[in-house]
Amino acid sequence: MKDTHFFEGLSPFALLEQYGSPLYVYNERVFRERCREMSHLVTYPHFKVNYSVKANSNLTLLRIAREEGLHVDAMSPGEIYLEELAGFTPDEIFYISNNVSTEEMAYAVSRGIMVSIDSLSQLERFGRHFPSHPVCIRVNSGVGAGHSDKVITGGEKTKFAICPADFPRVREILQTYELRLVGLNQHIGSFFLEEEPYLEGVRALLALAMDFPGLAFIDLGGGFGMPYERTQSRLDLASLGAKLSALMEDFAARYGSPVLFKIEPGRYLAAECCVLLGTVQAVKENYGHVYCGTDIGFNVLARPMLYGSYHEIEILSRDGSDHTDSLRPYTVVGNICESGDILAHDRMLPAMREEDLVCIHDAGAYGYSMASNYNNRLRPAEVLIDQAGTSRLIRRRDTLEDLTRGFEV
Ligand code: LLP
Repeated sequence: MKDTHFFEGLSPFALLEQYGSPLYVYNERVFRERCREMSHLVTYPHFKVNYSVKANSNLTLLRIAREEGLHVDAMSPGEIYLEELAGFTPDEIFYISNNVSTEEMAYAVSRGIMVSIDSLSQLERFGRHFPSHPVCIRVNSGVGAGHSDKVITGGEKTKFAICPADFPRVREILQTYELRLVGLNQHIGSFFLEEEPYLEGVRALLALAMDFPGLAFIDLGGGFGMPYERTQSRLDLASLGAKLSALMEDFAARYGSPVLFKIEPGRYLAAECCVLLGTVQAVKENYGHVYCGTDIGFNVLARPMLYGSYHEIEILSRDGSDHTDSLRPYTVVGNICESGDILAHDRMLPAMREEDLVCIHDAGAYGYSMASNYNNRLRPAEVLIDQAGTSRLIRRRDTLEDLTRGFEV
């Protein structure tokens, strides 16, 4: 087990017995620890962490993040809706829009939620409908980073944000509709373990921000990685934090006002507080390849199939033996009717039997939030182990009736 205290003394077998398989299991202590690490990232005094809830929007986690003093970003009215349910007030929510309808803009504006706009045409539309409103623009400073091309959101090959070349037009639109530019935001992409790309993005953004006087805030985005692989080392938060603080202090001094800086971590907060439990349902050999067949299809965890992402996998045998002396390569697969339904290729794992337990580590970010009902499979339950070491259901498993919701019968 990566973190031997993860289950806080509870038995993963007993959890599966009680709540069913597969099962997302969260540890409240770990989630709170990550929230606090991010809250203390910098010494610059005007600083706020916006939890990027697309990583995991379970209502219970949102409430805990709020208790930890975090604010939130939102990518859709649905996320705004959940955030308000969790108790976040409009000033604590930042709507980062991308290709949205006028109705979606209005959903946020009518609530008094700050909107970030990421194209000239959408800025124009925002101005037409909400003249003289405060607004924020999302900037592409030319820097991008991420674990896959699919999640790099800065630089030359992305649909996101407004390039500096378009800033003269931005100024015209702002003037035409008397919009008040109160903030700039950027997000270079998701997942970095080396600090340099992020710092490079921040330096580029701050250089651009200097030409926009009167900003109330600058949002530097998320992307903070954590080690999915045991061989990876952790992001050096002390070093990154010190460098960010220096950049913030220096900017505020030159800018002449104490701008509020925000960051937007999703994965860093939510990934490590969760282990996804499942069950070995079949072990078989096909043309020399050994397959470990589980009940964790890509409808439950899409990341390996979608990005080829690595998650640590552990097998807990029912008979208590660890068989670690007999490792061999297994291709770990799910129960979906596609050959790409693969959690790991040729992963070295101990001998296993049906009904042994599978632990997929670090599954809390972009795990449940990307789960689906493909093949009409039921999305799993989510359980929280609270700080007293007690487990409780925080989202029930789908039911067959849930599958018919919305049909005209
Ligand atoms: N801010 C914005 C505007 C974003 O688009 C994102 C993520 C974040 C913040 C948070 O990024 P994080 O700190 O979590 O890296 N499904 C992919 C990740 C997609 C990220 C999308 N945007 C995955 O499973 O790796």
